[in-house]
Order: sequence, then C-alpha cells, then structure tokens
Amino acid sequence: MIRAHVVHPHRKGSATRRDPHTALAECVALTTALDVDVAGAEVAQLAAFRAGALFGEGKIAEIGARMKEEGVELAIVDAPVTPIQQRNLEKAWNVKVLDRTGLILEIFGERAATREGALQVELAHLTYQKSRLVRSWTHLERQRGGAGFMGGPGETQIEADRRLIEERILSLRRQLDKVVRTRALHRKARARTPCPVVALVGYTNAGKSTLFNRIATAEVLAKDMLFATLDPTMRAVRLPSGRRIILSDTVGFVSDLPTQLVAAFRATLEEVLAADLIVHVRDLSHPETTEQKADVLDVLEALGVAQEKRDAMIEARNKIDLMPTEARAAALTEAARTPRAVAISARDGDGVDALLDAVEAGLSEARAPVRVMLAASDGRAAAWLHARGVVAARRDHETGVEIDALMSERERSQFLKEFPGVELAPEAAQGDAQEGDDAPPGQWTP
Ligand code: GTP
Repeated sequence: MIRAHVVHPHRKGSATRRDPHTALAECVALTTALDVDVAGAEVAQLAAFRAGALFGEGKIAEIGARMKEEGVELAIVDAPVTPIQQRNLEKAWNVKVLDRTGLILEIFGERAATREGALQVELAHLTYQKSRLVRSWTHLERQRGGAGFMGGPGETQIEADRRLIEERILSLRRQLDKVVRTRALHRKARARTPCPVVALVGYTNAGKSTLFNRIATAEVLAKDMLFATLDPTMRAVRLPSGRRIILSDTVGFVSDLPTQLVAAFRATLEEVLAADLIVHVRDLSHPETTEQKADVLDVLEALGVAQEKRDAMIEARNKIDLMPTEARAAALTEAARTPRAVAISARDGDGVDALLDAVEAGLSEARAPVRVMLAASDGRAAAWLHARGVVAARRDHETGVEIDALMSERERSQFLKEFPGVELAPEAAQGDAQEGDDAPPGQWTP
C-alpha cells in the first residue's frame, strides 16, 4: 500500500471559519478513501504562502525530514498548489505531490459508477491536466530564456500532448451530451409515475448511504469511505402509510469543491432539483456539524434549489448513538422542539420511523386542497384519486361525485393530463361546502 504524508497549510491569522486541525482530519479521511496508508499528518503554520514552493525553505526541510523518516512516497498538500510549486516540492521532497483538487479527482475517478459520472470525472481530470501542461510549458520556456530557442522537441511534444487531450475532451463532451439527453428522457418518464421523489443530501460521510440502505434495504456501497456514492441511486420505497415514494441517494458535499468538478456534481444533483422533498442528513456527532450544514445549504442555493423547497427540507440529525448520554438527550429534546427535524441513528435504526413519518407529513404539506367534480359516469377518475390516497372527503350525489382532495402540483398536472375534461377548483373554505350554486362548471351538472 502506498504510504502518504498529509499537510494542511494554515496561514496564521487567516479568517477561515474552519479549525485547521478539523480540516486536516477531513483531508486525512479523504486520503484514506483512496486506499492509501497515512503515515503522518500535520498542520503547517505559515506566515504567508510563497509563490515558488508554497512553503519557506525551513518548513520544506522540516516536513521533508519527517517524510523521510516515515518512508512515504506521496505527499498530500491540502491547498491549491500551482504546477510550479508542485514541481519544486516534488524535487525537494523526492515524492509525488497531490493537491486538494488532484486528490478529490482521484477519489471521484475511483468511485464513479455510472457512465455519466465516469465521463464527467475524466473530463474534469483532463481539463485539470491540460491547464498544468500549458502552465508548466510556459514555465519551461521562461527557464530556457524563452523565444523557442531550445524549444524544438520539447515544445512539439507538449503541443502534441495538448492536441491529444483536446481531442479526447471533445469526444468526451459529445458522449456526455448523449448521456445527458437519455437521462433527461428517463427523468421525463419518471415524472409520469405518480410517486413523489425524495432526495437525500448531506455532507460527505454524514451517513446518507447507511440511511438509504436502512430504508430501501438496497445494496448500495456503504463503507467508511468518502464519496462512496458518486452517482445517485434510486429505489422505490413504501412509507408506513403504504404510500410509495422514490428515494434518491446523492453524492456527498465537501467544502472548497474544485471548480473542475462542479459539472460532475451538477449532473448528479439534478435529481435534487427535481425532487418533491429533500432530506438533509447531518452528522450531529461531528465537531463542525454546524459549518457542514452551512456548506450544504450554500451548495443547494448555488444549485438553484427554490427557497420554498429549502424551507420545507427535513433534517435527519444522524449518528446520535456516537454522542455521550447527556449530549444525546439534549439533541433528542432539541429535535423534538424543532419543526421538520428528527434525531436518528441510521446505524441502529433509532428514530428512522419518526423520520419516515416526517417525510410523509412533509409530502402532504406540499399538497394543496382541491375540489373535484365528477360525473357519475366518470368512475375511472374517482378510482385514480382513491388509488393515490389523495381523497380527503367524498360526497356522492345522484348526478355525480364531489371529492375534496389533497394534491401536489405533480399529482394535479398528472390528473389533468389523464382526464383533460375535468376541472379542479381550489377547495372552498370550510363551512362553505354546500351543494348548489357555488359549484364550478365542468362535467358536474347538478
Ligand atoms: P458519502 O458517500 O461520502 O457522501 O457518505 P455518506 O453520507 O453516504 O455516508 P455513509 O452512509 O457511507 O456513512 C459514512 C460512515 O458513517 C460509515 O462508516 C457508516 O457506517 C457510518 N455511519 C452512518 N450512520 C451512522 C450512525 O448512525 N451511527 C454511527 N455510529 N455510524 C454511522
């Protein structure tokens, strides 16, 4: 197994909301996800980032000595590292250096399970490589005194590499286009199914896959590995009430997502945009659970998830089994007091039933009351409504049926597509539900 040393550079006095030691722990966890043995890890305090090699000479020697002692071949530097800095560090330490973007790209590459995920990751990787190629080339040129004087073979080689990369990028883009189109078709097909879609989102390692498995009893990779789920997984699930939903597991979020990967994220997160209800899974036992929540909310906003949907989101406060008794009791009380929050342990199953009840309630909340007037002959429409469990009250008259229903926007539009002649009216206020002249027109003929 490859041995690595992880360094989190921290500029003294920099105003980040993260504790550098927690950031280091996250980076170590990410590195472990690559099946790499982490032999040592440290926060490197710096007065300033240096252009040439990121760290000052003294720091480089100090870290280098430690790495030599540990016998590592790989250094992970948890920061953006320019190609020049990378080269200089690799020379000074005599190890391979990977920065945060490189690390996350490697992980994504290993985890991508669907065709689209794999394509997106390869595209991101090539774009990243291309920028390095270009920049290290200009750097070499400068070192040689420029003007292509010695440029000959080196230059053509790099030019050829660049062309190859560009061709590959173009071909990937074309394939992706195709995959995305097919995917849109699938989504449309799914939109016609009557099941509402519930999406699980959350910071990486929060426990989404574990919860998904518990609810869906599906075989989704759930290991102590970050990004175990790069591609969304969907399962049809029955809620305790008998109502069917589609549950969707999504990729975990991280802070400082490399820009090259935003597209890969967007593709998997389209499911979130299309969802009827979002469940935010949080690791309540994590020391930075509040910061993680803020990161997730930022990403959802950046993705364009509507305000109402973010407000309606349900919070699954997970891993309470890891909390000390007192903190756990406090978490339970706090969740009971907070609307749309449920404390759970996805591992033990505690609270999961209450979470499903909250999902059920959340879905119903998104339903608005409507009144449907049906002719006596229109038994099929009435059956459709009953089958979806949306009927709140039904009054049978000689000439037809009057139904008070609770329907989501999706259900309303499906109903209208199926039964174009029927009119839906907002349900009259209570006490106003008399038969007669306030009945809207339609197939209803009193
Ligand atoms: P990503 O795929 O990285 O986004 O992670 P995820 O959110 O899907 O997390 P996953 O379900 O893979 O869980 C991460 C780790 O936390 C695993 O080791 C789980 O066993 C563990 N875990 C999940 N839920 C609980 C819980 O309720 N209690 C405890 N103790 N561990 C949990």
